[in-house]
Formats: sequence, structure tokens, C-alpha cells
Amino acid sequence: MGIVYEERQKIFQLNTPGSTYLIGLIDEERFIGHLYYGRRIDDLNMEYLKRSNDAVRFPSRCNGERLRFQDGFQAEYSTAGQGDYRESCLEVRTRSGHNACMLTYVSHSIYSGKPALEGLPATFGTEEDCTTLEIVCEDRVLQLQVRLLYTVFEKIDAIARSVRVINQAKEPVYLTRVLSACLDMDNENYDMITLDGVWAKERMITRRQIANGKQRISSNRGVSSHQANPFIAIADSNADQDFGRVYGMNFVYSGNFMAQAELTQFDMLRVTMGILPEGFCWKLESGASFTAPEAVLVFSAEGIGEMTRSYHDLYRNHLIRGKYCHAQRPVLINNWEATYFQFDTDKILSIARTAAALGIEMLVLDDGWFGRRDNDACALGDWYVNEEKLKGGLPYLVSEINRLGMKFGLWFEPEMVSPDSDLYRQHPDWAIRIPGREPVQCRNQLVLDLTRREVRDAVYGQIRAVLRSANIEYVKWDMNRYLSDLGSLGLEADRQGELSHRYMLAVYELQERLITEFPDILLENCSSGGGRYDPGMLYYSPQIWCSDDTDAIERLRIQEGTAMVYPLGTMGAHVSDCPCHSNGRMTPFDTRGYIALAGTFGYELDVTRIAEEERNKIPEQIRIYHKYNALIREGDYYRITSCQENHANDSFMVVSKDKEEALAVYIQVEARPRLRSVRIRLKGLEDRWQYAVGDGGRILSGAALMNAGILMDELWGDYQGKLIYLKKV
Ligand code: DGJ
Repeated sequence: MGIVYEERQKIFQLNTPGSTYLIGLIDEERFIGHLYYGRRIDDLNMEYLKRSNDAVRFPSRCNGERLRFQDGFQAEYSTAGQGDYRESCLEVRTRSGHNACMLTYVSHSIYSGKPALEGLPATFGTEEDCTTLEIVCEDRVLQLQVRLLYTVFEKIDAIARSVRVINQAKEPVYLTRVLSACLDMDNENYDMITLDGVWAKERMITRRQIANGKQRISSNRGVSSHQANPFIAIADSNADQDFGRVYGMNFVYSGNFMAQAELTQFDMLRVTMGILPEGFCWKLESGASFTAPEAVLVFSAEGIGEMTRSYHDLYRNHLIRGKYCHAQRPVLINNWEATYFQFDTDKILSIARTAAALGIEMLVLDDGWFGRRDNDACALGDWYVNEEKLKGGLPYLVSEINRLGMKFGLWFEPEMVSPDSDLYRQHPDWAIRIPGREPVQCRNQLVLDLTRREVRDAVYGQIRAVLRSANIEYVKWDMNRYLSDLGSLGLEADRQGELSHRYMLAVYELQERLITEFPDILLENCSSGGGRYDPGMLYYSPQIWCSDDTDAIERLRIQEGTAMVYPLGTMGAHVSDCPCHSNGRMTPFDTRGYIALAGTFGYELDVTRIAEEERNKIPEQIRIYHKYNALIREGDYYRITSCQENHANDSFMVVSKDKEEALAVYIQVEARPRLRSVRIRLKGLEDRWQYAVGDGGRILSGAALMNAGILMDELWGDYQGKLIYLKKV
């Protein structure tokens, strides 16, 4: 049992294989306090952590100093308005206009397994996999019940947290903030690591020393965003890939969020994560409940790398669903960078014929196949085939592609509408907008108000009809603008603050409908590249298009940041044309292949027009993909060097779970005349075992490979790469 309650001391002990999390009921008033999170401790006599001997006295002993107590209390779930001046997790507005709340313990239950979160993506597990603690607390004045849920996983150092708020009063109450997790720690000179970026440069690793006050990342764009990823890690200042304590927090949500570290007056750190409070206001009717999305905490005592591997294992086994989760994905060719909007059936078939002959397994038809969509100024919402471009429609095209032995996939952007579209002309009121105000367009499009059932049904009906019209085995679900002009005709005035969250619930509902009705379809999420690369989306699709920047060298950085949290098998990565359309860079075809191998692998170029020498390399690249994909997809990931840090080379490796084989990828980003070879120390191998290294015939022990390392000879020129395969002998 991963969770025990020590009745005498009133302490909950939550254990994963390598970590312990302690919650205590504090004072006679039974405040729910945070006592400890870190390396595993099995002691049960941890009452001293309640700090009852501190100078600040407990309220029941000294009512006159209640505020002083609240001001520094290490809370499991902080509340606003009664003396805790740090970031609060829960805040309300009552009918009379007040905001305060105060939670105390009522009861708890501990049970095997994990409850689903209605309408929300969340990790899951069987009764053998995990144990859940549900602490019921309440604000007696508001008659508001709050349930704090903690699930510990038996085999992974992860704890999933979520919160349910139930209004037991007769009156409605407005929830103005409901965060999902709070972690009150003593400050120990920590750093904060986040994944920040911009379109085409997503998830750049940022590390900063935590200073006094609040340091927050957030998104108010209606998507988790290119700019911020819903992930934060608190790490020892000297922690690196292999050493030091690291606390990760990842939000299983795809909309507005915040993640924050706040260093306070008593040298304490409060880390919080949840739905962004700004702009959020949820009217909770009498008897109704609100569920805040899940935050997943991972503790590692052995550096960032161990945290990464825990997230990968958790998401591969307890988040991603469907038959493709652990399966090799078909090698695809996507026509976007090959043709953009300029294609017809003949062009697509000519690409398909050449691709099929080279061993490519699926053709994905991207944007431009529907309505009058010849550019990005029109037709979103008109999900019927443009028969002028595609003569014979999809049934003909798909059957021809199937005849070549290839699968067929199709692009949609279901959440959007172009003002220049039949749909918009019929239903101008279906876009998100504020009455009397011209809504702001982006990429010539508006966002559909999916919070309205009739809008959702209409969009879904169109998509379903297309998917039923031909043998479509893959869908790319794109989303190419942020939300603005937040107004919904379907919501009353005092519910407009619910729009962004309701929008996400609607997207989740639509994707759930899609994967339930078409369980065999491989779904790839996308949002102008990687604008919605988060665990929420991974609950519906096993892969996400990582970035619109397909330049191999830029991808090194983007994929390094992404892989810090998300499994390699989820990263949409393609070999694209050169000069690269994102930045004009020329890179060798082989190197482009090595870098795309680290993800789902595919092509994004006109295979009929690239140089013959490059085309001839494709069958071998595909053979390599088939050879190594299971290892890359399911193995343990180790970061070795980072070109973000050293500007010279980049390397990582994947080791099979049984440690019998491994693959290291080495990219020389910048060639420098050098007299000495570069030493790369491998990781994750078994010390005593002997491994055959590459095809050079050298055999070395794991100890030698991990300590003395291997020596990389200089490769000639920038952007050269090498794969090194290791096999136990
Ligand atoms: C953005 C995506 O990231 C691209 O891959 C492509 O699908 C375009 N949208 C199409 O409009």
C-alpha cells in the first residue's frame, strides 16, 4: 500500500519507490499542512515536522496570533483572505462580494486505483498500479467542500494531484481561482527550470536561480502555448542530468495555466500550478461541483535525467491511450512543405508513387483539400472536398494510395472558421466574439465557440462524414491561432469567465468522441507546430507535431526541451527539404534522418523533386527507423551533451529496459579544427556487461563506456552526425 495514515500523529505518508510525501493535520483545528516531499523515508514518527515548537504558535493555543500563523503556515492547499498573503490556490467571490475561505480537515479515504476526472484528461492506473488518498476538507462558513486527491504510483516516482470543489450551500458561489497543486517547501537555494519559447522555437530550456518574490510562467492565450509549457521543475542549484534533487510539476491541461515559484519572507518556497486565475470565474451553483485538472509531481534524487525517465514511463503507461501508444507508427510523408496549397490529385499521387517505391508507408494530405481553400484566407469550417483540386474526391485518391500499399491520413482544423467560408456566412454568431466589437483575426480566422453544443455537433458531423467517406487511417488535428475577444452567446453575463475553460472541455469532448468512434485512427495533435504540446493532448493523441521549425539543427534544441518531459515516441519529427523552409539552413540528409529518428519519423518534402542522391538514401533511413524505433520509443532516455550549452555538439542515448541494447545519437553541430577526439561518456548501461560498440568490432564493458567513454573522431564539416548502436555480448 503506497499510502498510510498514522492515526496517533495524524500524518499521511504517501510513498512511491523512491520518494515520500508527508501531509499532517496541524493543530486542534486540523489545518492540512505540508510536512515533507523528497527522497523516500519509511519512518512514521515524523510529527516533529509539524513545527509545533516554532515561535509562531498554533491558533488554538493563541487565537490572538492567528494571522502570524497563517502568514507562514506550510499549507497543502492555500486559501485566500485570512492571513496567508502568498499565492492562494482557492479564492471565491460570494454573492455579498467577499473572497475569503479557510479549509480544515473533515475526513479522508484511502483506496486502490485512481478515479477518472470527468471530462478531463488525466493519468490512469489499475488497483495494482496505484493508490489514492482523498482528503475531504471544508470551509464551514461558505459550506464549500474541497476534496484533495493524491494518487501515488507503485512503480514510478510520481504523484498525481487534483481538486474537486462542491458547493453545499443554498446560494451559488463564484470560484475565482482553483489551482491544482501547491507545494510549500523550505528554500534550499533552488533553481527553477521551465520550457519557454515562441512559434518555431518551442520549449527552450530556461534555468534561473529562484529569487525573492514570484517567478511565474503562464499562458492566457487559450492554449498551453508556444511561449510557455505547463511544466516547472525546482532543482538543487548544483543539480545536473545525473545528480541532485529535482521536483517536477506538469499540468495535464491544454489551456490557460500558471506555474509559479514564490520565495517568501521566511525563506520558504511556495510552488503552485493550475488554471490561470486571471480571466477565470466559475459560477458554482448549489449542489454543483468543479474539478480542477491534474498536476503530476515527480521527484528525483538523481538529477534531471531521472525525473525525465519517470515522466516518460508514466505517460507511456498511464496517460497515452489507444493501439498506437506502444506501437510503431507508419513512416509518413506529409505534403505541407512539399506543395503548401498548390496541389491536385495528380500531384499527390505522383508524390505517393515515388514515396511508396521508397518504402514510405503513409501519405498525409495537409491543409488545402477542402472548400475553396487555395490559401489561408478562407474556407476553414467547410469540411467537404474541393473536387476541382481532387478530382474523384477522397474515395478515388485514397483508393489509389491504398493500391500503392500506403495508408492515407488527412489534416483538419476543427476549432476554426474563416470569415470567408460558407459556415461563417450561415452562422456568423458561431465565432467567439464580444457583441458590438469586431473580433480580432489571426491567419484570417476566428475561433469557433465550441462551448455551444450545436457548434460542436455541426463540426463533428462534418468531420465524421469525411472520415466515413474513405479509408482514412490518420488525422492531424491542427489549431492555428490563440483565443481572443472572449465572449460567448451561449453563456450568461456572470458566466463569461468560464469560457476559456469550457472551451478546453469542449475540445476534449470532441477529441474523445473522435477516438471513441474511430479507435483505429492514429491521431496527431498540432497547434501551429508545438503550441499545445502538453500532457492533456497526449491523453487523446499518442503524438504531437513538435514544431513548425523542421530545420534539423533547430530541432536539436526543440526536441531536447520537449524530451525533458515528454516521451520521444510522442514527438512528431520529419526529414524536410533543404534549404530548410524555416531558416534556409543546409544540413546533410543523413543528419536530418538521425534527428527525426528521435521522434515519430517521417518526411515533409517533395520526394519527386529532391536530389536523386538524397532520394536514394530514403530506403536505408527507413530500414534504420524500423530497426531502432522500438528501442527509441520504449527505452530509457539519457541526455549526454547539449548543443544549447556547449554550442559544439549534441548527444543523447536510449537504453532498452533490460539494458541489453542502446543507441547513441551524436551530432557535431559546429566543426572546429581539433587535434583531439571528443570524449562522450555513455549512460544507463550495466557496469559489468560487455557491449559490442557500433560495427567497428570493439567490445567494452558498461563501466568503461560510462566512465572512460567513447572517443568521437572529428567529423568533416558542420552538422555531421553519427549513430552508435551498442549490444550486449
Ligand atoms: C500549422 C502546422 O503546424 C503545419 O504543419 C501545417 O499543417 C499548417 N498549419 C497548415 O496550415
